[in-house]
Amino acid sequence: MATNMAKIAQAVLGIDVGTTAVKAVVVGADGEVVGEGEVEQAIATPRPGWSEQNPQEWWVNAGLASRRAMAAADGEGKRAGVAAVGLTGQMHSSVFLDGAGDVIRPALLWNDTRTSEQRRHITRTLGMDGLREMLGNLPLEGFTAPKVVWLMQNEPANYARLRTLLLPKDYIRYRLTGDYATEPSDAAGTLLYDVRRRHWSERALEALGLDESVLPRVAGSTQITGAASAEGAAMLGIAAGTPVVGGGADNAAGAVGCGAVGEGVTQASIGTSGTLLLPTREPRVAPDMNLHTFCHAVPDMWYLMGTVLSAGGALGWLRDVVAPGASYDALTAEAAATAAGSDGLLFLPYLSGERTPHNDANARGVFFGLSLAHRRAHLVRAAIEGACFALRDSLELMREQGAAPAEARAIGGGARSGFWMQTLADVFNMPIAAAQPAAGPAYGAALLAMVGCGMFGDVESAVRACVRTSVVAEPNAARAAEYDEIYDGYRRLYPALRERFAAHAGVGAGAGARLRA
Ligand code: XUL
Repeated sequence: MATNMAKIAQAVLGIDVGTTAVKAVVVGADGEVVGEGEVEQAIATPRPGWSEQNPQEWWVNAGLASRRAMAAADGEGKRAGVAAVGLTGQMHSSVFLDGAGDVIRPALLWNDTRTSEQRRHITRTLGMDGLREMLGNLPLEGFTAPKVVWLMQNEPANYARLRTLLLPKDYIRYRLTGDYATEPSDAAGTLLYDVRRRHWSERALEALGLDESVLPRVAGSTQITGAASAEGAAMLGIAAGTPVVGGGADNAAGAVGCGAVGEGVTQASIGTSGTLLLPTREPRVAPDMNLHTFCHAVPDMWYLMGTVLSAGGALGWLRDVVAPGASYDALTAEAAATAAGSDGLLFLPYLSGERTPHNDANARGVFFGLSLAHRRAHLVRAAIEGACFALRDSLELMREQGAAPAEARAIGGGARSGFWMQTLADVFNMPIAAAQPAAGPAYGAALLAMVGCGMFGDVESAVRACVRTSVVAEPNAARAAEYDEIYDGYRRLYPALRERFAAHAGVGAGAGARLRA
């Protein structure tokens, strides 16, 4: 305990407002995780395609997770002096606040697909050339701007009360310090930010009839944005006055936490979503913008990213449906005993629509090729293979951009599973590395806090001192060749179904709603 107390005197706190849990880590100056806390949370689905959480619940959960991490760190539950706090969280989700700073309605999350009409409205209003030039990204249902337009068009009374729009981690900052601030990596995911020039896009805001005054100021990811108030500090179990740094979007902070901070070091994240992220020194916008171009949490870096809306989330759904309460380890052990390709079973993981590469909110999950021979283990294997194939779609788009990544670093729940990692290595035909400590975006936020409070001069030095990586799965040449063939079949499935997804959208929803009522 004495050691922990000594370490904690120069420790930092990282908080990640994830989708299924809020996580907090206390990290010592040497990069060692000395305390962790996690509080799970649910997603509300009031209607099909809707996905909401209450920001106040994030704050309560952040308090609990942080106090647990602090208590674990100092062993006595005493308030120890962390030198700074770093924040990260789910991207894009919309926190709507009124003039008193109160939450107007539950946040629309990154995987909410109700905003297809607003997405079309934004495309019509800004035009493809305008989108490319002003924002560098396509409007997608999950991004923040369509959610604000949805509020304007569907809940005018709520929209009339809107005074501040925040991202999830920045709501924690507000409750902790009273400041309205964000930083470039989360601002980039709003679709209201000029990612090339790094400022709010006045032209896009004006064209959409949105007032810049609702947007927070944009600080740097490693810059101190404010200090914890007495009330905020008590909630997290830290000292009043503790500095709070900008932090980063979960994908950007995750990349910092696994050392994907230099050009070409790819990160594969398998959490509820799955993402493949490639840091770049310049803002690179893909010709048809089918990859996202966002700002990194590393100053003057950007990244290209593809997003699979349900990756680990698809396995979570399957577990809850076919094996409630079973452990993931037990299920993946069963799956590992089946053959690559799941005896002909393919799975499209589009349970909540799909982003990369199809950008189709109507797409839905598909098991294709089911036979009487298939058992639960095949369904599990197909779900994991389907998520890996979906990530490979992003890898192929990056290759079309001239990128030739030689290795991917994995983070998220999937990185803790040998079977997920081996499947990813075989599907990518590439070694997969993982970082130590494997504490994900919260760890990256802690490293950003270390830079912010002067423990390291820059992000690269913090990464060099704290992050160790090692290869956890090497591709098996025979299986990689098999997967190449199976992936070809996987790729052909969506185009064959695209029209049917559109025609089928909403079919049966009425009966479902009646059943639920
Ligand atoms: C990325 C995205 C998700 C969330 C998950 O664009 O929507 O990866 O950031 O929290």
